[in-house]
Amino acid sequence: MTASLRVPLRTQPAYPEHALPPQVQRLKRPVALVKANALAFLMFEKCDLDATETFLTDFGMHTVARDADQLLMRGSDTAPCIYLARHGNRSRYLGTAFCVADEAELIKLERQAGARRLPTDAIPGGGSGVELIDPAGNLLWLVCDQSPLAPLPLRAPLHPLTNSVGHLPRVNATVRPPLEPAAAARLGHVVLQTIDFSNMAQWYMRHLGLIPTDVQYLEDGSPNLSFFRLDLGAAPADHHSFVLAGGIEEKYEHSAYEVVDLDALGQGHNVLRANGHRHMWGIGRHVLGSQLFDYWYDPDGMEFEHYTDGDVFTADYPTHYVPLELSGIWAWGDDVPASMGVQRDLGTLFKVFRLLWRGRLSIARLKLLGRAMGHPRPWL
Ligand SMILES: [Fe+2]
Repeated sequence: MTASLRVPLRTQPAYPEHALPPQVQRLKRPVALVKANALAFLMFEKCDLDATETFLTDFGMHTVARDADQLLMRGSDTAPCIYLARHGNRSRYLGTAFCVADEAELIKLERQAGARRLPTDAIPGGGSGVELIDPAGNLLWLVCDQSPLAPLPLRAPLHPLTNSVGHLPRVNATVRPPLEPAAAARLGHVVLQTIDFSNMAQWYMRHLGLIPTDVQYLEDGSPNLSFFRLDLGAAPADHHSFVLAGGIEEKYEHSAYEVVDLDALGQGHNVLRANGHRHMWGIGRHVLGSQLFDYWYDPDGMEFEHYTDGDVFTADYPTHYVPLELSGIWAWGDDVPASMGVQRDLGTLFKVFRLLWRGRLSIARLKLLGRAMGHPRPWL
């Protein structure tokens, strides 16, 4: 290949908050009412609980309780539930539950945010909780004092015994992990798309005390996507427990579950493939958050991610700002699926026209979104 045919290879810039380019707007942080200290579980309505349970079992979760009305699934960690599905007429995301420290935090939410008290029997693992509804109509539960479960056995990670150049910790031993579902240890993060990014970001930061870890901005400098972490002070928190992405609809994008290592990710992939589930994307490594990923569709086409080796940060780590480009989603791996880029089907056109008609989207912003999400790789 001649030099003139070689493609430009580049890494996206990332600017710490104190060194922002002049056109980039900061994502303002409101005063937080409470600080969530863990992501608890997700809530869905599902038409077919049998099919859902089968998929989640192959995905590496375990059934805690199941009847005609409800399905509760756990991971191998101590959380009493990481996934809750109620039987219903359609399959849809209902909302997310986070943990707070104590009852005082719940009372604050009742008094200052109009939160509604939940009946104790509605909360997996018991305890107390309140319900809020976000500006897009999704449920947000805040709970405390759930009873933990005994952890399930989880095989030891293999990477401490990875042989490398000049480093041979594994001598006279092999790498032969059992072929089994990738044990989903815990719920790591949930990602939502929203039409009104600015308002939703303010609302979630206020009600959960979230810290923006990485903010992605459009060409005009306006923030349009943020990876939020929990404020755990000096304790390390996942790079993101919650992500909001500005777009053209209110939508659950995906949720992600931590597995023990890359071999679990890969062998879990084989188990899901062998059992006929639909693969979406991976295996690869993300840029923002750094995690190794593998995405799958559940029976209703909802996206679920296995991940391992994600970044963690303490509360004092500065927020960084990164241009929003589809190419910035992943460091390596298969090309991003077309479904994550700009869609030009009739349904999408209808959604766009309706937003334009109602004044919820401008032509200028639509063009900015299209440019950000239109080019998966500089060389494609
Ligand atoms: Fe993810």
